[in-house]
Amino acid sequence: MTGMTTSPTTTPAPDGTHPVLHATGVTMRFGGLTAVRSVDLAVHPREIVGLIGPNGAGKTTFFNCLTGLYTPTEGTVTYRDTVLPPKPHLVTQAGIARTFQNIRLFANMTVLENVLVGRHTRTKEGLFSALLRGPGFKKAERESTRRAMELLDFTGLADKADHLSRNLPYGEQRKLEIARALASDPGLLLLDEPTAGMNPQETRATEALVRAIRDQGIAVLVIEHDMRFIFNLCDRVAVLVQGEKLTEGTSDAVQADERVIAAYLGTPFEGAPGQEELAEVEAAEAQADARADLTEDTP
Ligand SMILES: Nc1ncnc2c1ncn2[C@@H]1O[C@H](COP(=O)(O)OP(=O)(O)O)[C@@H](O)[C@H]1O
Ligand SMILES: [Mg+2]
Repeated sequence: MTGMTTSPTTTPAPDGTHPVLHATGVTMRFGGLTAVRSVDLAVHPREIVGLIGPNGAGKTTFFNCLTGLYTPTEGTVTYRDTVLPPKPHLVTQAGIARTFQNIRLFANMTVLENVLVGRHTRTKEGLFSALLRGPGFKKAERESTRRAMELLDFTGLADKADHLSRNLPYGEQRKLEIARALASDPGLLLLDEPTAGMNPQETRATEALVRAIRDQGIAVLVIEHDMRFIFNLCDRVAVLVQGEKLTEGTSDAVQADERVIAAYLGTPFEGAPGQEELAEVEAAEAQADARADLTEDTP
């Protein structure tokens, strides 16, 4: 190995040339509909990569291909140079964890229990030893609980450990999903619209959380329609339009790309399209008006 230097300003680790995740020619057809068409995407160690695109562009379908929920019609997905089998539990075991666009928590379990479920793939103790509750199980259980509490602390949910997850406000449920995903000790975390339904303050907090996750050495691939979130956060952004990768580049390059602007024009982002933006514009206008009033009143 040559030039094994690390510096906080250059992202790639010594093995930086080897992507954590490498999707090649991934195509997903549903009958006559091609939801994802020949998409290539790499995520490198310690990178935060954004995946954006209009509603129905195929972003979630692509995630489902990466995580074994779907078997791609064509193409391969490798994680650390190993081809992934299209089985969700094997993908999780390999080191990829995800959250869902539509939150999937165990509503009647506590916050802590939800994280412990996520921990399950990483504990050696199998179902039998859990049932028999032998000494190995007790020890593993203690360790799992310790780690789960650590993750709740990390995501700011420690004081809610005993609450039923269904009683958490929406934003905290999204955080809990992240904590649960982290419980499998992933090398790559996939987030599908982590700030959907969050207020601006929660969104900023999620930005910081994703950075902290990256700083722990976990690569992140994130789908979001909040462009400010994406362009603030991501080292690189890929744009999907009608199942195809339109372009890929740094936040600055993608923001300035006329094709990206054109792809979005007239195509509302998913979620409640424009409502937040509209409120922001109105607030900004109100502020501007107030300022204008002030200056008018000032002689
Ligand atoms: N299981 C499925 N069966 C049939 N069509 C699907 C399925 N999942 C997604 N699609 C279609 O694939 C396209 C892409 O959807 P999706 O991946 O959810 O887009 P995005 O997440 O970018 O909004 C849409 O036209 C959607 O209707
Ligand atoms: Mg989606």
